[in-house]
Amino acid sequence: MFARAALLMALGLKPAAGDCPSWGKPFPSNLAGLDKISFANLYDVTYYDQYKVVEYTAAGRPYDASWHPEASLRGTRVPPMVLYQCGTTKPTTGMPGVPSNARFFEIPLKNVTVGWGGPLAFIELLGVSQSIDLVDISAISSPCMQLLEVCYPETHIPENLPDWSSNPDWMTRASRTDAVFTDTFGSGWGGDAAKDVPFEISFDPGSLSRAEWIKFMALFYNEEAQAEQIFEQVKTDYNALKAIGDQLRTDASTEWQGQQPKVMFVSQSGTRNAITNAAYKTQFITDAGAQLVQLPAVAPAGCSFTDNTDGSKMMRCDIPAGDAAFTSFLAEADVIIDESSLWPDYDPAKYRGFATIYNVTADQVPALARSPPNIFRLDGHVSDAFEDGTVGSGWFDIQQSEPQQFLAGLMEAIWTSDFASSCGQKYLWRASDLSAQNVVGHQNCPLYSAGQNDCQSLHDRLHTPPMCSGTTTTAQSQEASAACGAGGALALAALVFAPFWAAF
Ligand SMILES: *[C@@H]1O[C@H](CO)[C@@H](O)[C@H](O)[C@H]1NC(C)=O
Ligand SMILES: *[C@@H]1O[C@H](CO)[C@@H](O)[C@H](O)[C@H]1NC(C)=O
Repeated sequence: MFARAALLMALGLKPAAGDCPSWGKPFPSNLAGLDKISFANLYDVTYYDQYKVVEYTAAGRPYDASWHPEASLRGTRVPPMVLYQCGTTKPTTGMPGVPSNARFFEIPLKNVTVGWGGPLAFIELLGVSQSIDLVDISAISSPCMQLLEVCYPETHIPENLPDWSSNPDWMTRASRTDAVFTDTFGSGWGGDAAKDVPFEISFDPGSLSRAEWIKFMALFYNEEAQAEQIFEQVKTDYNALKAIGDQLRTDASTEWQGQQPKVMFVSQSGTRNAITNAAYKTQFITDAGAQLVQLPAVAPAGCSFTDNTDGSKMMRCDIPAGDAAFTSFLAEADVIIDESSLWPDYDPAKYRGFATIYNVTADQVPALARSPPNIFRLDGHVSDAFEDGTVGSGWFDIQQSEPQQFLAGLMEAIWTSDFASSCGQKYLWRASDLSAQNVVGHQNCPLYSAGQNDCQSLHDRLHTPPMCSGTTTTAQSQEASAACGAGGALALAALVFAPFWAAF
């Protein structure tokens, strides 16, 4: 091991400890406003001369008390982190702001393990994929990260999901990297608590707060300025869409005639049906100009409430005892998003149909009776099958980084011909259209070229977030205006004024 490392160093292949990566940014010099995180509330950062102290806030979760693969961590709080600039002396606990239980990371990180898809999307957005030493690409939906694996096959080994701790090769490889991006459940756990960086995006309750985790990732790469810029773009676009949603909410010329349409997310697992009201879903529904199908104060017969990690109330109904109650909720919805899982291959041909899954008829559920039925699925963007048959779904790995894209798609689903976004539908597909799912492979990365992929550019490629509130494409606007006349015109007029509304 030592001999090999020494040889690599002699050959100049590996930077000596303390060296800064050639592609890395310097420690941020203009700190004005950088410690301001507006939405995400699960971490805090404080800047010092050549280091940053990052602390997980009390609002966040401890390491999962029953699932985390490392028993000694279960139920304990994630310790703070001190990120210090390469080429400077590692800070000690005597220095300002350095907590006694801090873990130390030299930045910009140059050698990381990416334990699951959530953090990967942000590494890609920031253009710092050069630091990736290890990732399990089998459940990843991004075309360019799939190309990364084609270009650098050694970066991929499987973690043996969902049993996170069962692959010893994964742990061995992860332990030679400098940081391992995981979560408090232990997804992608690399075996070393000192290197563990839980990327807690799934537990941040709001739609924009999740996108703001780009600022968390940026801390490790001195990419604060870029993260700020990307997040501002995302936020402005999201708020412009939201302003259009506000207009549509009361617009009497739409299909819903000024009555706020009702939307719900449902799922089924085992012998239970569920209404899955996570806080961020409720926020998406409201921001789209619609409303959530409300749960009653008292759980109906056969059903019970459960608390979600974000504090929201969900409901489960036993099959068949709670069927009548569950069906009565379905009957209230104008649009239903069916999350019942097709994992691991997400093959639409295996979708048994809403009526079959939930044992209902179109007579009972207006959303199902509508033509075409207003039943949607979330796996509209998936990867092609990996060699072991695993498929990645963008809903799980990319969506959290682009709430504007999901909001736009949800608005298209709810407002049909009265709204078309400039970035098109991505995550939702209408369950009656089995060909609507979009399967993407490494060939869909712009840097792909048969036989001569542009692998080097993959590293510096700055991913541009989709902008969804702008002018629609010609095809979309023709479709929109042909289909709906006045309503379509309103949506398009709204798009023009969107930037002004965004200011509020
Ligand atoms: C990470 O470090 C290991 C061990 O030194 C090395 O073999 C590997 O090439 C490095 N990866 C990157 C991306 O620098
Ligand atoms: C479906 O619902 C009907 C009552 O509406 C019930 O008789 C039947 O057993 C149910 N089927 C299943 C598979 O639960």
